[in-house]
Amino acid sequence: MSIQKPKGTQDLLPGEVEKWQYLESKARELCRRFNYKEIRTPIFEHTELFSRGVGETTDIVEKEMYTFLDKGDRSISLRPEGTAGVVRAYVENKLYGEPDVSKLYYVGPMFRYEQPQAGRYRQFHQFGIEAFGSVDPSIDAEVIALGYTFYKEIGLKEVNVEINSVGTPSVRTVYRQKLQEFFEPVKDKLCKDCQSRYDRNPMRILDCKVDQKYGEGAPDILQYLDEECTIHFQLVQEHLEGMGIPFRINPRLVRGLDYYTHTAFEYKAAGIGAIDTIGGGGRYNGLVEQIGGNDQPGVGLGLGLERILLVLRDQGVEVPKPEPLDMYVIALGSAAEKEVTKLVYQLRQQGIAVEKDYLGRKIKAQMKSADRLNATYVAILGDDELARGEITLKKLESGDQLTVSLADLAANAPKTLFA
Ligand code: HAM
Repeated sequence: MSIQKPKGTQDLLPGEVEKWQYLESKARELCRRFNYKEIRTPIFEHTELFSRGVGETTDIVEKEMYTFLDKGDRSISLRPEGTAGVVRAYVENKLYGEPDVSKLYYVGPMFRYEQPQAGRYRQFHQFGIEAFGSVDPSIDAEVIALGYTFYKEIGLKEVNVEINSVGTPSVRTVYRQKLQEFFEPVKDKLCKDCQSRYDRNPMRILDCKVDQKYGEGAPDILQYLDEECTIHFQLVQEHLEGMGIPFRINPRLVRGLDYYTHTAFEYKAAGIGAIDTIGGGGRYNGLVEQIGGNDQPGVGLGLGLERILLVLRDQGVEVPKPEPLDMYVIALGSAAEKEVTKLVYQLRQQGIAVEKDYLGRKIKAQMKSADRLNATYVAILGDDELARGEITLKKLESGDQLTVSLADLAANAPKTLFA
């Protein structure tokens, strides 16, 4: 039996992969404008990083990590998200010693053992950014604006930004207690997960699809924010308004990771079945210290690339087509064949995208290949032309033909072809 890919993974084949390249290049280009620099951290880390960073009581750490012992008996996990690894690298490489705020971005695969469905995979990809060293609400707003701008610039038609403040740990201690009091009468009716969340992380009950009905009328965290949290949240909103980023306050917004303080946000869009969140993030002021670094604040986001592509498809948004092939070169005769190998290499060295036949096929089949590859030119070299030092070029779109000097083309192709 042939071997198939693991459940929840995807092969990104030519034809589809160009869309990924487009998203990735857009992400990089946007980060250049916002002055975020790329960071690449390992795909696997010590498991402890995620249990400490993401949180012991989160679904991600409790149920969804790909964890294994390596041959040295160390517990290793594939990264389920990007923030913890970036924080570790920030601490380990002492980036906090730098005079400016560290603004970093990454694009890459993450792994979560979830039940696959449309928009939910076991290997998926995030474009993420993390900014360290500032408590200024303008940077929370900048992060939210960057995500929004990314979605808009790649053509997503409707993206809703939802924001909330999840306060500080001391605010949450009070709020948790209020929630426990609220859920106490229905505690036994909650789903099994939420019964354990009741003690460990009652805010997550608000996020449960099954127990939504029991959450109606639950107290809002915004009522319990202290002055510092209220002012921070207010200023984030003012900065967003200043930039003209539309948003909605959702006091029920609870993120699935434990590290957030103050600002939490999500981007929502229709078009992926049951899932509507396409990206999210927030501020995490205690995380760097928790991972063993100085007390440095941070704020960031993660956007799922698979989900963006699903929404683009649903909205009928076309991403720009990749550049066509510049030329397909056909050899007629044995002497010409050798010359073509050389010519193709010379053209490629000059930056021209060129293809030839490798299957010894007849000219008709080769012409069909040129068509399929959407080549701008077909070049035909016969032994006679070779003897004259010439080559015939045909523009596929118009059918126009011209003959050019072989030496000229080999030496100066961009000018000869595209002047
Ligand atoms: P997250 O909300 O867990 O946050 O994930 C961010 C995004 O990754 C989601 O909105 C979704 O688009 C995508 N995503 C998550 N799980 C899957 C999956 N199984 N299949 C497909 N896509 C998925 C984080 O990961 C945080 N690290 C974001 C962050 C950065 N917060 C601060 N800095």
